[in-house]
Amino acid sequence: MAEEQPGTPDYTMGFSEEFLESLRRYTADASAAYLIPYLRPGLRVLDFGCGPGTISAGLAARVAPGELHGVDMEPSQVELARSVAQAHGVTNATFHVGDVTTLSFPDAFFDVAHCHNVLMHVPDTAAVLAEVKRVLKPGGILGCREMICRSCFTEPDFGVIQSAWDMMEDLLVADDGHPQMGKELKARLQEAGFDNVYATASFDIYSKPADVEFIYMLATQWFLSPEITEAAIKYGASTRELCDAIAAAYARWKDYPGAFLGVAFGEALANNAFA
Ligand SMILES: C[S@@+](CC[C@H](N)C(=O)[O-])C[C@H]1O[C@@H](n2cnc3c(N)ncnc32)[C@H](O)[C@@H]1O
Repeated sequence: MAEEQPGTPDYTMGFSEEFLESLRRYTADASAAYLIPYLRPGLRVLDFGCGPGTISAGLAARVAPGELHGVDMEPSQVELARSVAQAHGVTNATFHVGDVTTLSFPDAFFDVAHCHNVLMHVPDTAAVLAEVKRVLKPGGILGCREMICRSCFTEPDFGVIQSAWDMMEDLLVADDGHPQMGKELKARLQEAGFDNVYATASFDIYSKPADVEFIYMLATQWFLSPEITEAAIKYGASTRELCDAIAAAYARWKDYPGAFLGVAFGEALANNAFA
């Protein structure tokens, strides 16, 4: 990255308004559908790497009067999550600034732990999963949904847009992240000692005119912003010419009637082992 955000040494994507808009589009119904059937009133849920808390608010509503605790290392995200919960009238969610590798909760505190697009950013996957395992009750449920960058697509590609996904992968790798974490979840959860690991996959699809406009805004104002492109050029993940070609291709894409984009995710459910 051109400039690191305080408190987020290993987090690639920054917190620009445009990127936050993409996170705000995530909801529990859309992004945690695989986990929702296992939630019921009274459960205590951890949302680690909760970001702006839009998914957390929906999870909290499902378990009320149980509790949801969201944890994120970035204070601005924790503040946002608190205001999102308040705006949704959610009163059973508490948000904490903290690192997911050193959680401040007692052992066996949670019935359910959830994350969305977090393991892909944290270098030491085993350290996160060991800590989540510690705070989950024996038999407790872990649900993770993470991107599979290699399986994302933009149609049509105009011969160049796929390079933007490659650039994203390279940037994540440069920050010791895991761009294919979505398809590695089954193995990582098994290695961490979770039982009954069940892996699935899904796409977030952008096809309606408003979705296409949104992706164009995200591509040009966030992904192709000077902050990200300069980092990509510095890491050898792109060149100025390639970034310009991607921008020109996205301008064509947004006006193309068949514009269609899919973000691929792997999802996994597992139980914490009984000692
Ligand atoms: C892509 S955002 C996802 C936010 C949210 N889960 C969602 O999907 O809307 C990743 C979040 O993980 C947080 N994060 C990254 N590494 C972390 C760590 N070691 N401890 C706590 N939070 C972390 C970042 O601050 C960021 O808010």
